[in-house]
Amino acid sequence: MNEKKLAGEKAAAYVQDGMVVGLGTGSTVYFTLLKLAERVKEGLMIKGIPTSKETEAIAIEHGIPLIALQDVSSIDLTIDGADELNDDLTLIKGGGGALLREKIIAYHSTHMIVVADSNKSVSKLGTFPLPVEIVPFGYNKTVQSLEKLGCRVVIRNNASSPFLTDNGNYIVDCSFGEIPYPSTLHDKINQIPGVVDNGLFIGYANKAIVGQENDITFIEN
Ligand code: 5RP
Repeated sequence: MNEKKLAGEKAAAYVQDGMVVGLGTGSTVYFTLLKLAERVKEGLMIKGIPTSKETEAIAIEHGIPLIALQDVSSIDLTIDGADELNDDLTLIKGGGGALLREKIIAYHSTHMIVVADSNKSVSKLGTFPLPVEIVPFGYNKTVQSLEKLGCRVVIRNNASSPFLTDNGNYIVDCSFGEIPYPSTLHDKINQIPGVVDNGLFIGYANKAIVGQENDITFIEN
């Protein structure tokens, strides 16, 4: 069975009538979006806030009603994927390049459910290179400052030019190896001028739904 489909579809069951729902980005949440679209056709009344242009397009295509973040007082529930998650529900996100909007939406959400396949669940974070969104201005200086924190930095490319986020910024993927102190690293990275934000999500997720072969497991905070 497809672990992403199992986890993604299960999360859609937590969405209730009247909710404002943060709609994450990626191939696992895609299954949540399809399930939500089915439920909307059956009468579920929700408003979705997409975390990326990609998700916005999928939601529009499948008839999920949307609303802008600035037009709501809060978000009831956000469902999003992750590139790595540990038992504390600290996450590495940004594999799809949407980390900034994902973090803004997670921050304003009362609850956040992470959906993932079993490969994403780790005891120590850091095998997946940490995505960091940086502004293009003076980007090589920002890269040098990141390298001084002890990582190898790769500028993410789209064919031969730098990948551009929905916010017009670059993504650099930073290999630190094992990350024993995510909070300390998070703060050090974000103190560098030129860094917009990084893919460590600490204290946002309340629950993870992880596909495990033909079943799902839950991690709760
Ligand atoms: C996008 C993300 C995604 O949630 C993350 O990359 C997981 O994606 P997938 O469900 O396709 O494995 O953080 O910025």
